[in-house]
Amino acid sequence: MLSNKRILLIVAGGIAAYKTLELIRRLRERGASVRCILTKGGAQFVTPLSLAALSGTKVYDDLFSLTDEAEMGHIELSRDADLLLVAPATADILAKMATGMADDLATTALLATDKPVLVAPAMNVRMWEHAATRINIETLAGRGVLRVGPGAGDMACGEFGEGRMAEPDEILGAIEAFFLGEVAPVTPSGGAPGRTRTLKGRKALVTSGPTIEAIDPVRYIANRSSGKQGHAIARALAGLGAETTLVSGPTGLADPAGISVIHVESAREMLAACRQALPVDVAVCAAAVSDWRVGEEAGQKLKKNGGGPPALALTENPDILKTLGEAGNLRPGLLIGFAAETEKVVEHAKAKRKKKGADWILANDVSPATGTFGGDANVIHLIDDSGVEDWPRMSKEEVARRLAQRIAENIAAKG
Ligand code: CTP
Repeated sequence: MLSNKRILLIVAGGIAAYKTLELIRRLRERGASVRCILTKGGAQFVTPLSLAALSGTKVYDDLFSLTDEAEMGHIELSRDADLLLVAPATADILAKMATGMADDLATTALLATDKPVLVAPAMNVRMWEHAATRINIETLAGRGVLRVGPGAGDMACGEFGEGRMAEPDEILGAIEAFFLGEVAPVTPSGGAPGRTRTLKGRKALVTSGPTIEAIDPVRYIANRSSGKQGHAIARALAGLGAETTLVSGPTGLADPAGISVIHVESAREMLAACRQALPVDVAVCAAAVSDWRVGEEAGQKLKKNGGGPPALALTENPDILKTLGEAGNLRPGLLIGFAAETEKVVEHAKAKRKKKGADWILANDVSPATGTFGGDANVIHLIDDSGVEDWPRMSKEEVARRLAQRIAENIAAKG
């Protein structure tokens, strides 16, 4: 899928630079060629030798090198690529990009390029949240710079929060999504089957991750959903050109590039955000919505007061998929749900499709032994009104791409 794509990877000075080594390997496995520019700061974390060994080509690091200029000038370097990727994109290099500074080879290439740029920010949470960084990110987004991440989690500096560079898989997904969207040819409806179709001009809605339901101000009910499948689907739909809204419960995943992400916590918040996103051409409900919530959330932290554990009276949450199916003229043109089952997978999923009024159900076995929940792979049975299609075991990214392609074909066939 990335064959013959030329990526210029700019490695700036952050601890996450080590992740780019794995990224280069994965990009090359997929047929891309990678050329690296290493900043002075970046060289504190990875060596030119490791980048050269993995990319299989010379690493550039000096703006004023006569030999480099003779072989390939810095302007040519910045243009002889299909995509510039800055990973890790530190607060410093983002600030330089936003203000148009060009004081080393990396920033000069970024200023001189006429090619799309994708950044994978990585920094301490306070630096990420700082007003200066926020403005720089907005400035860059306004200029069309694409972004993947950062995600939330433990940081190398010992703090916790947003600022972790997206994982190689997510960066890879963003790059593939970018090229898929860019190269997807606009085929007339009724064109050759199996060819890539576009979703340009279409609107998509995806729910992802778990919902969490408060018990009191410090405790909640949750589930083990990672959000990987839903996020991958949103990326794949956006990759085909759909204007995509991702409504996500709390996950540790980075916000995908080029997608409008609405962060929610509870099922009721998720439903409200989905309603706001209507009308859409397609909705994919991949979230593991908590079926129940505590009827009345305690205003104060529940205390042990000698009377034994509190009895939690649960009440049922709204069913988002079903509600979208009953939205009258706002019903999504194509409504897709998942069925997470641990037994009689297809039988239960067929019943769920009817009960919830979905067009398609993607059934998957989530028994602990399958490793589906939280894992990277999935085995899908696609159920529609004509029957069941069994998909082989594949990565969640592949499931997402195959689904997005099926959606595009279905929408094109309907005209
Ligand atoms: N779903 C939803 N809102 C809910 C519950 C589920 O939108 N309150 C959606 C899920 O996103 C998924 C589909 O419904 O697309 C099926 O979810 P699943 O957890 O498999 O089924 P449940 O409806 O929870 O049924 P059960 O727990 O009885 O299996």
